Amino acid sequence: MTKGVAILISGGGSNMVKLVESMQGDHPARPVLVLSNQADAGGIRKAAEMGVPTAIVDHRPFKGDRSAFEAELIRVIDATAPDIVCLAGFMRILTETFTGHYAGRMLNIHPSLLPKYRGLHTHARAIEAGDTEAGCTVHEVTAELDDGPILGQARVPILPEDTPDALAARVLTQEHRLYPQALRRFAAGDRTRLDLAP
Ligand code: GAR
Repeated sequence: MTKGVAILISGGGSNMVKLVESMQGDHPARPVLVLSNQADAGGIRKAAEMGVPTAIVDHRPFKGDRSAFEAELIRVIDATAPDIVCLAGFMRILTETFTGHYAGRMLNIHPSLLPKYRGLHTHARAIEAGDTEAGCTVHEVTAELDDGPILGQARVPILPEDTPDALAARVLTQEHRLYPQALRRFAAGDRTRLDLAP
């Protein structure tokens, strides 16, 4: 049976586009929803152009009431009955209620080689630390931020003249390779780790 995938975004949605484009032919999954917490997220228009149902759940009217915001998120997501939820640049911290609701079926992409650099500003922190490589990680989402079983990683070199923006762009090209492959394997029931060479 084909699996349904809901993708949560907050911005441009370039990873979301790659995920949607990948779910064709003999792929074991299909997109059922692209949801943004930002009404003006560029990714929403792109998803609509690709024929994927879209939804906005703006966090701002909830005025910091995370549980009410998440209850609305869950209501809108579950109306599409997804088997898998993919966070793709969804920039809200999620509580244990939300992560527990989708336990074992929610993935995230994070722009660092976890367990290094959870949270924000990953590229600046890697450069600052003098690291010689960076990368991205796809992992299952658990209650802890940017934690959970690692499904795949892709690595890139950090060059001597790198700025955070230059490094972010290099990592993003690898995110676009890694996330579709990791989702495909996950949807097919394969939880073994994928390591992509540059
Ligand atoms: C990506 O680099 C993703 O790894 C990052 O946000 C960007 C979204 O780009 N996610 C996080 O930092 C999550 N903490 P996109 O909207 O073009 O896919």
